[in-house]
Amino acid sequence: MTHCLEGKHLAFAYEPGQDILTDVDIAVRGGEVVGIVGPNGAGKSTLLRVLCGLLRTHSGQVRLDDKVLASFSSIQRARVIAFLPQTVNPVFSLTVFEVICLGRYPHVGALGGLGRHDLEVAERCLREANAEELRDRDFMTLSGGERQRVLLASILAQEPSLLLLDEPTSALDIHHQTEFFALLRRLCRKGYGIGVVTHDLNLAARFCDRLILLSIQRRLLAQGTPIDVLTEDLLSQAYSARIRVGVHPLTNTPLVTADAPEEEP
Ligand SMILES: Nc1ncnc2c1ncn2[C@@H]1O[C@H](COP(=O)(O)OP(=O)(O)OP(=O)(O)O)[C@@H](O)[C@H]1O
Ligand SMILES: [Mg+2]
Repeated sequence: MTHCLEGKHLAFAYEPGQDILTDVDIAVRGGEVVGIVGPNGAGKSTLLRVLCGLLRTHSGQVRLDDKVLASFSSIQRARVIAFLPQTVNPVFSLTVFEVICLGRYPHVGALGGLGRHDLEVAERCLREANAEELRDRDFMTLSGGERQRVLLASILAQEPSLLLLDEPTSALDIHHQTEFFALLRRLCRKGYGIGVVTHDLNLAARFCDRLILLSIQRRLLAQGTPIDVLTEDLLSQAYSARIRVGVHPLTNTPLVTADAPEEEP
């Protein structure tokens, strides 16, 4: 069964009267990759936290399969939605395989240990995230990019249907970035719905079905296909900078670049 997470007229403020999100509509449905883009501080991470139920809006509602998200228990939510935060700071020393096994928590009871099936799922996710060679390493000793691959394996082990990923490729090299987004496309063909925050507009152009562009001034500035959203006009407004958009000569998707500020004479 494919799932749908939908937010309508979402408004959220950390401090009363200072809205970070104003009247945002967003839907993440099984079978699509939705990119959330925009400048630093525009509210992308806040929006993901609202969508997974970690933050409550002061108006508007998030619904999962047409039921109010807040009516689900945290375990019920975790069986459907996996959230990968922008930064993860481990406090315990765990091996990579143990970190991946933590992803099984919504499927084992409070006192239950991991069964054979749980371990098989964890092994499969380790392979899927291309992290097999890291299996027995101490998670704390991994590089930033290696950690991101392992954390992806861990949330896949949760066996969710919807993934909400906050800058999951920020530390990955060009090869692993592309591989990661290609994996998202494969998951999406299997019925996963994916919401992904990224600063890489060129990867977003190539791999996302739809984009949501947030800006600091206007909050929700635009949404639609990458071609609709990645225009010089909208991006220059969003980033308060001169942004140029061409066409990638190999992938034929929008190619985005920002002008450097003029140097002092
Ligand atoms: N816990 C908090 N309390 C108060 N203000 C916060 C809190 N978290 C974030 N903010 C503020 O809310 C705004 C949006 O933050 P958010 O983290 O959602 O931005 P973002 O779009 O994810 O930015 P980035 O691209 O830098 O990750 C920022 O101005 C930030 O300083
Ligand atoms: Mg953020």
